[in-house]
Amino acid sequence: MAASLFFLSLVVPLVLLLLPLSRSTTVVTHLPGFHGRLPFHLETGYVNVDEETGTELFYYFVESERSPDTDPVVLWLTGGPGCSSLIFYEVGPMKFVLAPYNGSLPQMAYNPYSWSKVASIILLDSPVGTGFSYARDLEGYRDVGDLSFAMHVVTFLSKWFIDHQHYESNPFFVGGSSYAGMMTPIIAQHISQEIEHGKQPRINLKGYLVGNPFTGSDYDRNFRAQYAHGVGIISDQLYEAAVGNCKGNYIRPRNKLCDMALNTIEDLISEIDEGYIVGIKCVWDLLRHRFMLEENAQLSELSPEQPTINCFAYRYYLSNIWANDNSTRDALGVKHGTIGEFKRCRKSMPYSFDVSSSIEYHFNLTSRGYRALVFSGDHDLVMPFLGTHAWIRSFNLSIVDDWRAWHLGGQAGGFTITYANHLTFATLKGGGHSAIEYRPRESLAMAQRWLDNKPL
Ligand SMILES: *[C@@H]1O[C@H](CO)[C@@H](O)[C@H](O)[C@H]1NC(C)=O
Ligand SMILES: *[C@@H]1O[C@H](CO)[C@@H](O)[C@H](O)[C@H]1NC(C)=O
Ligand SMILES: *[C@@H]1O[C@H](CO)[C@@H](O)[C@H](O)[C@H]1NC(C)=O
Ligand SMILES: *[C@@H]1O[C@H](CO)[C@@H](O)[C@H](O)[C@H]1NC(C)=O
Repeated sequence: MAASLFFLSLVVPLVLLLLPLSRSTTVVTHLPGFHGRLPFHLETGYVNVDEETGTELFYYFVESERSPDTDPVVLWLTGGPGCSSLIFYEVGPMKFVLAPYNGSLPQMAYNPYSWSKVASIILLDSPVGTGFSYARDLEGYRDVGDLSFAMHVVTFLSKWFIDHQHYESNPFFVGGSSYAGMMTPIIAQHISQEIEHGKQPRINLKGYLVGNPFTGSDYDRNFRAQYAHGVGIISDQLYEAAVGNCKGNYIRPRNKLCDMALNTIEDLISEIDEGYIVGIKCVWDLLRHRFMLEENAQLSELSPEQPTINCFAYRYYLSNIWANDNSTRDALGVKHGTIGEFKRCRKSMPYSFDVSSSIEYHFNLTSRGYRALVFSGDHDLVMPFLGTHAWIRSFNLSIVDDWRAWHLGGQAGGFTITYANHLTFATLKGGGHSAIEYRPRESLAMAQRWLDNKPL
């Protein structure tokens, strides 16, 4: 079936429009809340990734503002699982004007640090149930988990590249932050396997990049105490008690003294915003990170109250208002009646965490010649850079470019080290958990250098 469809699409491209693939695209030139024509090429659309259940993933495609014919194509996913990749978050080309909401549609501005400055970007609402992605049948929301998530993204890409053959030969990268950083190497490995099996279209996968990534492994939580100690959240005495009693295992305490030390550590950590340790602590932000830390936790929804404007999450609050407006949905080509209320992060559906750890995927991909950039906002305690660097070090790769600062405008943008197998680790100095949103200018510089295959 798939092969014959592909054959047809080669022979009679027009026929594609008549085939029951449920692909629909909208070229968006204007958006509510933004004055004038968008200063970039934006296309949105749905791609059907499961005919049986009518599962359709919603994407935004922003063409590179540099040299779209030769620039890389980057698929970018936001964390959660279940957080939308709306064009305002992280790498996207828009941002909200942070003004108190007064009942009229939130206003937005162009993000001069959009990654579309150097690459064409595909932002995908995934897995199904996220953002504007939906399933016609309720059955489509069953068995949502890491494995189906990865399979759907790979199906999405195959169909997307068939419809956008112009980009098939461009270098391609998968990227994502937070929980999407867990999914990224899994997705990349699926793509690499399809390439090995000669599947068409042949995606020109070159590598992947992840920011403050989850791995599902013990590394994710084992460095909280060390990090909290290093930045002065816990005392020397408490840290020593934890080290002495927990014996390197901070996740499943085996004795009462370790348990007590860890509880005190968590109490002290609860005084700050874990996602940005020097930021203002807001309930919204707290809930934002909390669910990711507790295995299989089903936080039904984010707090319904409005965050105050000094909260980092105020931008997310504005995005929910914007995305729930009918004029916005019409402009984006969102199908009416397919989803109810838009929420930046949807946590009401069940999700099975069926891949226990992504670390082996990182190891396999980098062993097989794919380039990797792992970056960390260094002010994040949700996924401290110490843990991230520790699992990278566990690969025992030799150092190719030793730890040094990388610069922007004569200042250190962060620090970096490159290992064999084209594996680069970098910090974003002063960045929080969604590091790109805290350090957009530095993030773009880092991404540009890495995507262009230059040293940071
Ligand atoms: C709300 O604020 C915007 C500017 O952010 C302004 O243009 C608009 O007129 C205001 N609307 C009301 C109802 O005050
Ligand atoms: C928005 O569109 C939906 C679906 O067409 C409709 O049910 C709803 O009443 C509209 N809301 C407003 C405020 O116009
Ligand atoms: C990694 O590669 C090895 C050897 O090819 C394979 O046995 C293993 O299943 C791979 N791991 C994952 C997580 O795919
Ligand atoms: C790295 O070295 C350690 C210690 O020698 C060893 O236990 C571990 O298995 C090695 N890891 C890999 C991926 O080879």
